[in-house]
Amino acid sequence: MIVTPPVGLADRHNAPAPRYTSYPPANRWSRKFGARALAKHLAIADHSQRALSLYVHLPFCEPMCRFCECNVIATRDRGRADGYLDTLALEIELWAAQLATRRRVSQLHLGGGTPTFLSAAQLLRLFALLVERFPIVDGADLAIEADPAVTDAEQLEVLAQLGFRRISIGVQDLDPGVQEAVGRLQTAEQTERAIRSARVAGFTSVNVDLMYGLPFQTPERFLHTVERIIAMRPNRRRLRARHIRRRC
Ligand SMILES: C[S@@+](CC[C@H](N)C(=O)[O-])C[C@H]1O[C@@H](n2cnc3c(N)ncnc32)[C@H](O)[C@@H]1O
Ligand code: SF4
Repeated sequence: MIVTPPVGLADRHNAPAPRYTSYPPANRWSRKFGARALAKHLAIADHSQRALSLYVHLPFCEPMCRFCECNVIATRDRGRADGYLDTLALEIELWAAQLATRRRVSQLHLGGGTPTFLSAAQLLRLFALLVERFPIVDGADLAIEADPAVTDAEQLEVLAQLGFRRISIGVQDLDPGVQEAVGRLQTAEQTERAIRSARVAGFTSVNVDLMYGLPFQTPERFLHTVERIIAMRPNRRRLRARHIRRRC
């Protein structure tokens, strides 16, 4: 079957656009709301028991993709995550101490970097640190970003047992020439295996990140990537609650 490349669609998106790296986005931040205002805000007792959304940034990656603008530490030393978790434990205490009332969490997003750089044991430790100060409500939306190159079935099973149901799998492009140019080598089989393992573990929402505008991409080649990804049947589910997502 000959499929016509969506050239019109590619043209429509062929323009500079702001990169969505945080919520609220950078242009919404104001000097008027500084550290003191934040502390005051947190100290107001919230008797309505509204649950919080938490984002945890795990910056480690192995190796560093050339296109990446995320806040990343490139290393192959898995032990570095232990020191990071020690510091994170202090930060969790600091935030919890500033809150006037103990607050539960209905949304948790682990982003990066590559959260699955952490071993299953390190992910368990991170979760234990969080829930000690921020209990998770039943049916909370727990999500994680994963790079298939460093993600294995054990990590996915542990995460699913903790209640994670949503996973975002980084791919970008399946074309070997594009991958070579951006320094991110990842076979289609690795991607397919990650999607399958996530489903088997119990994830119900499995989405895939693709990027356009990379070197050597053409509408035809990118269409080939998109078709192969569609055949792997990713399925980003709609969320129950309004979701706050912070990445990179
Ligand atoms: C933190 S990474 C995802 C997890 C993992 N590190 C990975 O790459 O598989 C989140 C996503 O940000 C996107 N990204 C990274 N650098 C980007 C850039 N310069 N412009 C647009 N998107 C970018 C990529 O699609 C990447 O999958
Ligand atoms: S795209 Fe993902 S794996 Fe690549 S450097 Fe950025 S955060 Fe790390």
